[in-house]
Formats: sequence, structure tokens, C-alpha cells
Amino acid sequence: MAQLFPRSADMWLRVVLFLLFGGLIALFAACVVLQRSDYRTDEGWTVDQPVPFSHEHHAGVLKIDCRYCHDNVETSAVAGLPPTHTCMSCHSQLWTGAEMLAPVRQSLAQGEPLRWNRVIELPDYVFFHHGVHVNAGVGCAECHGQVDRMPLMYKAKPLTMSGCLDCHQDPAPRLRPREAVTDMNWQYEGDRRAFGEALMRKYHVRAGNLTHCYTCHR
Ligand code: HEC
Ligand code: HEC
Ligand code: HEC
Ligand code: HEC
Ligand code: HEC
Repeated sequence: MAQLFPRSADMWLRVVLFLLFGGLIALFAACVVLQRSDYRTDEGWTVDQPVPFSHEHHAGVLKIDCRYCHDNVETSAVAGLPPTHTCMSCHSQLWTGAEMLAPVRQSLAQGEPLRWNRVIELPDYVFFHHGVHVNAGVGCAECHGQVDRMPLMYKAKPLTMSGCLDCHQDPAPRLRPREAVTDMNWQYEGDRRAFGEALMRKYHVRAGNLTHCYTCHR
């Protein structure tokens, strides 16, 4: 009987099967890597901005307090991003001709706010409030990392649900005096837990129900 398929067809079938199988393994490996990687949580990624604003320079070297630019952070849910005139309080005198600052001058001239792109954002179904944390003595660095060393802003900590819950289960050892919330170098030599527990009493931090779903999903 004449061969219906040439001998080489068998070989091709093997090659195709081999590629298919290999591809599936590669896809699976890629999923595992992505799931674990920073890609899912955006950790460590920078974002394009109208002006390459440096926290390292302004907050680190110049030591401008966070609240000078994020002035709602103690009272509101949102910290707030600085309006153009906050930049211009210095840059109308400093670096007035710099190309890098052209979008800031243009924003002032046209009365159009600068459009900063957000770096850290929670999904809409999560409730968050800055003021409550700041007043309980939770430092910016607990959630945003060493901002004073960031030439460009990036997300230093994952801020996922388990990240929030880690602290909500046991906030005491992560509290500090309110005066030090924006201090990027604050440290405590001694019994941090006992110190934190005293702060909890002082600031009337209600422990206990902080892990209830409705704290963050309402
Ligand atoms: C309290 C004063 C002050 C404020 C407010 C301020 N800056 Fe600056 N900025 C400076 C100084 C000082 C320098 C550095 C000049 C130098 O090193 O020669 C600088 C440098 C810069 C540079 C040059 C690149 C760099 O970082 O070295 C950019 C861009 C810049 N600022 C953007 C901004 C923007 C945008 C705002 C508003 C969100 C702002 N600045 C607010 C004081 C200020
Ligand atoms: C001179 C003004 C200025 C100071 C001081 C400053 N910031 Fe900012 N901050 C900005 C501007 C402008 C942006 C938006 C551009 C960017 O993301 O870099 C920003 C963005 C941020 C963001 C990211 C917000 C988002 O979701 O996009 C965080 C977090 C932040 N700042 C924290 C801090 C902390 C913590 C300090 C104090 C250690 C601080 N900032 C000091 C001007 C300032
Ligand atoms: C308990 C964690 C936590 C602490 C403490 C904290 N932040 Fe945030 N911050 C967040 C989260 C989460 C977001 C994103 C909020 C959202 O998308 O609704 C955010 C967003 C921001 C933003 C961007 C937009 C906005 O207006 O909310 C700025 C600016 C900011 N934080 C600055 C600060 C500064 C300055 C401090 C310290 C005084 C601080 N944060 C303390 C968790 C924290
Ligand atoms: C490092 C510690 C810490 C981290 C991280 C943290 N929290 Fe909190 N959070 C607290 C403390 C402490 C309180 C209690 C404040 C009080 O009772 O005075 C609180 C209170 C809250 C409240 C209650 C606000 C109200 O209505 O009174 C919400 C909502 C909240 N946190 C959301 C979040 C979310 C969402 C995250 C993660 C993105 C987060 N928190 C991460 C320490 C933390
Ligand atoms: C301290 C704040 C906080 C508390 C308490 C909390 N969540 Fe969340 N939850 C979050 C944050 C933040 C996210 C967003 C996670 C992200 O973007 O990766 C989230 C996401 C989720 C999601 C979306 C799926 C996912 O995992 O990304 C579900 C479902 C959820 N939460 C259910 C619950 C339930 C049920 C409870 C009570 C047992 C609860 N949460 C308590 C902060 C909280």
C-alpha cells in the first residue's frame, strides 16, 4: 500500500507537539513570575511626569517638609498634590530660565494646572484616609518608603490588602510621635512595642476592629 503520508509528516507532528508543549510550560512559568513580581503591584516603577520632579532634591537635600507641598495630609483623606504657585514660590526666583521648568511657567501663565500622573493609587472599592493615619502616628515612610532618596517617585511598598492588614493587626510597633511623621530618618532606640503602646493610648488609637472588612470596604 502506498504511504498516505510521507515519512516526514511524522517528524513534523513531533516538532509541532514539542513546540506546543514547550510553549505551555513557558506560559505557565511566565504567569508564576508575573504573579510574584513587582509588575502586578507596580512596585519600584516610575511614571512619566510633565516635569521630572525630584523628591531627593527637594525633600532630601533642601529638607522641605512634606506638608509644604502635600498640605491636606493631616486633615483629609487625600494628601493633595501641590498647585503651580507652590513651585513658583521658589522658582519665580530660582532657576527661572530652566528648560526643565518650562511646563511650570506655562501652567502659571495659562492658569492651567500641571497634570501630574498618579504613582500610587488604590482601587475605588478601597477606602483610605491619610489624616487618620498621620494623627495616629503612622509615618509617611511606613507606606511610601524613603521618599527623600527618590530622584523620581516610585511605589516603594506594595500597599496591597495584606500589606494594610499586617499593620492593622498590630500597629503598636510601627507608630511614632506625631511630630516625627514626615521625618524620613526617625528611629527609636529601645522597646519599640512598649513605646508604641503608650502612643496608642495617648492618641486614642482604637485597636481591635481595624481588621474588619468594613474598615476599608464600605
Ligand atoms: C522651597 C523652595 C522650592 C520649592 C517650593 C520648589 N523648588 Fe524646585 N528647586 C529648588 C531649588 C533650591 C532647586 C535646586 C537649584 C540648584 O540645585 O541649583 C530646585 C530644583 C528644581 C528642578 C531642577 C532639577 C532638580 O531637581 O535639581 C526642578 C525640575 C524643580 N526644582 C521643580 C520643582 C517643582 C515642579 C516644584 C513644585 C512642585 C518645585 N520645584 C518646588 C527649590 C524649590
Ligand atoms: C516641593 C514640593 C514637594 C515636597 C516637599 C514633597 N513632595 Fe511629594 N510630590 C510632589 C509632586 C509635585 C508630586 C507629583 C509628581 C511625582 O509623583 O513625583 C509628588 C508626589 C508624591 C507622591 C506620589 C503621589 C502619587 O500617587 O502620584 C508621594 C507618595 C509623595 N509625593 C510623598 C511625599 C513625602 C513623603 C514627602 C516628604 C518626605 C514629600 N512628598 C515632599 C511635591 C512635593
Ligand atoms: C498607612 C499608609 C500611608 C501613610 C502613613 C501615608 N500614605 Fe500617602 N498614600 C497611601 C495610599 C494607600 C495612597 C493611595 C490612595 C488612593 O489611591 O486613594 C497614598 C497617596 C498619597 C499621595 C497621592 C495622592 C493623594 O493626594 O492622596 C500623596 C501625595 C501622599 N500619599 C503623601 C503622603 C505623605 C506626605 C504622607 C505622610 C505625611 C503619607 N502620604 C502617609 C498610603 C499612605
Ligand atoms: C503602619 C501601619 C498601618 C498601615 C500600613 C495601614 N494602616 Fe490603616 N490604620 C492604622 C492605624 C493605627 C489606624 C487607626 C487610627 C485610629 O484609630 O486612630 C488605621 C485606620 C485605618 C482606617 C480607619 C479610618 C477611620 O474611618 O477612622 C482605614 C480606612 C484604614 N486604616 C485603611 C488602610 C488601608 C486601605 C491601608 C493599606 C493601603 C492601611 N490602612 C495601611 C495603621 C496602618
Ligand atoms: C486595612 C484595609 C483592608 C481591610 C480591613 C480589608 N481589605 Fe480587602 N482590600 C484592601 C486593599 C488595599 C485591596 C486592594 C488590593 C490590591 O489592589 O492589590 C483589597 C482588595 C480586596 C478584594 C479584591 C480582590 C483582591 O484580593 O485583590 C476583596 C475581595 C477583598 N479585599 C475582600 C476583603 C474582605 C472579605 C475583608 C474582611 C475579611 C477585607 N477585604 C478587609 C484593604 C483591606
